[in-house]
Amino acid sequence: MNLKNKAMEMVESYSDTAKSDAYYPTYHIAPPVGLLNDPNGFIQWKGMYHLFYQWMPFHTGHGAKFWAHLTSSDLIDWEWQEPSLAPDEWFDRNGCYSGSAVMKDDELILFYTGNVKNEEGNRETYQCKARSADGVTFEKLGVRIELPEGFTPHFRDPKVWKMEDAWYMVIGAQTTKEEGCIVLYRSEDLDTWTYEGILASGLGYMWECPDFFRLTDDVLLFSPQGLEEKGIDYRNMYQSGYIIGDFEEGFPAGKFKELDRGFEFYAPQTTEDDQGRRLLIGWMGMPDGGEEYFPTHDNHWIHQMTLPRELIQSGERIIQKPVEELKDLRVTKLIEQDTESFAGNFDRNIEVIMKDVEGDFTLEVYGYLSIRLKGERITIERPAMDGSGTEWRAADLHAPLEEIRMFIDQSSLELFVNGGEIVFSSRIFPDTERKDFRMEGKSFITVWELGSEKGVE
Ligand code: FRU
Repeated sequence: MNLKNKAMEMVESYSDTAKSDAYYPTYHIAPPVGLLNDPNGFIQWKGMYHLFYQWMPFHTGHGAKFWAHLTSSDLIDWEWQEPSLAPDEWFDRNGCYSGSAVMKDDELILFYTGNVKNEEGNRETYQCKARSADGVTFEKLGVRIELPEGFTPHFRDPKVWKMEDAWYMVIGAQTTKEEGCIVLYRSEDLDTWTYEGILASGLGYMWECPDFFRLTDDVLLFSPQGLEEKGIDYRNMYQSGYIIGDFEEGFPAGKFKELDRGFEFYAPQTTEDDQGRRLLIGWMGMPDGGEEYFPTHDNHWIHQMTLPRELIQSGERIIQKPVEELKDLRVTKLIEQDTESFAGNFDRNIEVIMKDVEGDFTLEVYGYLSIRLKGERITIERPAMDGSGTEWRAADLHAPLEEIRMFIDQSSLELFVNGGEIVFSSRIFPDTERKDFRMEGKSFITVWELGSEKGVE
């Protein structure tokens, strides 16, 4: 039996168990079975949004990844499609690793990394191409780029885009001196690629999942590994962030900023849609960040995506605004009131909006996660995943607090401060019976029940 059929057998056998888990999300993308990591190939093609992701169907660990595939007309309801890539060729047999999608001559073209462990157990890496005429079935076209001199085989995650008359590709890489960087390639036809050099470097030992796009300025987005924790910064195992720079002049590493301040956020990818919006989806997970302690393994699934966000540049920062379409998830307004302290019980598929916040506040969410504003600092705290006490993440406000918007979905919480100037994305695993939500602090609070008719299949 071929690998895709084997994967679909896993879906048939276990997706009911996965979806009956009290922690399984209602309106976020999660795997029907197995492990999900990076978003891949995010594109709007012929009017439909396509999102692929790194998928291990056979267990809830990492390994030889597939590309799972979903489509949506509105970024809310996602429909499962047959897996698009399986690790079944000599050049990708240990994983069809992360990559991106573009449209050329009406076709949907994928670039991804073929990950190979050779007989001696050493890693080999190939940048590969695939294509589809119908957006459902994909034909692998094989290797287009081999490892150049000067880099270790940690060389992966091609992101391709068109600029003026040429195609460009950025790849996350590690030099033979074990420095993280991004390399740039150029092509006229998407088949022959010329190595153009290192586009940025100077942080940590490896950069994963690069992305390049233009807002007001040029932006390089990537996930560097090996940064030292510094006060409230870089507290996750690995980081994800951006440098606002210039394609010609460069991207100075000193200008690196974290994109998200939560416990779980990694390997985000963007695309531009037909409304001219720069949209981002991230993996709400963290490699080597305690995933072995997540309580969902026994139900045959782990991890989920973030909600889609629109990126907007504001001076030297990027704002992540929840996409407008998310308002369509609102089913019933549960409360709307002016309050100095508040306690209520809510199921765990809600949106909470706090406006006119005055002074410090504390929120206790299902007895699991606390959110505190004290002066300019916002801190979130939860029980440590490994059971050893508590852990926290924090950020300082750039402007007086006006609004908090929070999306809770069974086992995740995305906190948008001041319209997305600061964002915390985190998984939460409260006792499944708990519904209690408490707040001390002055604000005008609205709570919506969220859901969608179709949701994520
Ligand atoms: C990031 C990453 C990528 C790689 C993929 C493998 O989470 O390590 O660099 O392509 O995951 O699943």
